[in-house]
Amino acid sequence: MKEKGSLFSFEGIDGCGKTTQIYGIRDDLLELGYRVEVFREPGGTALGEELRRIVLHRKDFPICERAEVLLYVTSRAQLVREKVFPLLEQGTIVLLDRYADSSVAYQGYGRHLPVEEIIRLNDFAIEKRYPCKTFFIDISVEEAESRLSGKEKDRLEGEEQEFFHRIRLGYLALAKRFSDRFVILDGEQPPDVLRKIILRSVLEVVGHPKLETR
Ligand code: TYD
Repeated sequence: MKEKGSLFSFEGIDGCGKTTQIYGIRDDLLELGYRVEVFREPGGTALGEELRRIVLHRKDFPICERAEVLLYVTSRAQLVREKVFPLLEQGTIVLLDRYADSSVAYQGYGRHLPVEEIIRLNDFAIEKRYPCKTFFIDISVEEAESRLSGKEKDRLEGEEQEFFHRIRLGYLALAKRFSDRFVILDGEQPPDVLRKIILRSVLEVVGHPKLETR
């Protein structure tokens, strides 16, 4: 059965600006008359927000790498069943601030866990429902570091630069492998320029309401 809504995910290393872009695109789409929802990962449900607190902010006990990936994937499984799938059935556009690719990039490439196994975990959790398009907002690790300096860092943001280099290269590998859905964007161009490019790409999938009514 073809879904009525459309799913888009936004990916990139910490500090790439994807959250700003998502809310900009959401506003643009709302203005055009679409129904739109945004969720962040980990989170987006009561269980997911609880897991977010644990995985990002509890520094008083260890979380091993395999447990870490399972926590993210658990949050994702709940989010798709509880929120994303029903909204897509209703014809809503769903924008995700991180999704399956984050686990592959961060825990697979970043933490050296086996990439193929993480892809299988994702397939199970999301029932193989991947986005129409995944916007990978690419910035250099040095630019990310300078954008994040002065901000209090969570458990992952405190990792060394090499970790983020591996993640960035991981995203580029994923973009090559899943080139049918990945869109690589230069995250160092002005935010309003980037926003126009993303909006155009979203409208290619969902159609432009003004054009349809002609
Ligand atoms: P968040 O504050 O939302 O960061 P950002 O604004 O950069 O998305 O925290 C999410 C953090 O969790 C971020 O450092 C990436 C990490 N993460 C993973 O390591 N694996 C995952 O599967 C997901 C969804 C996030």
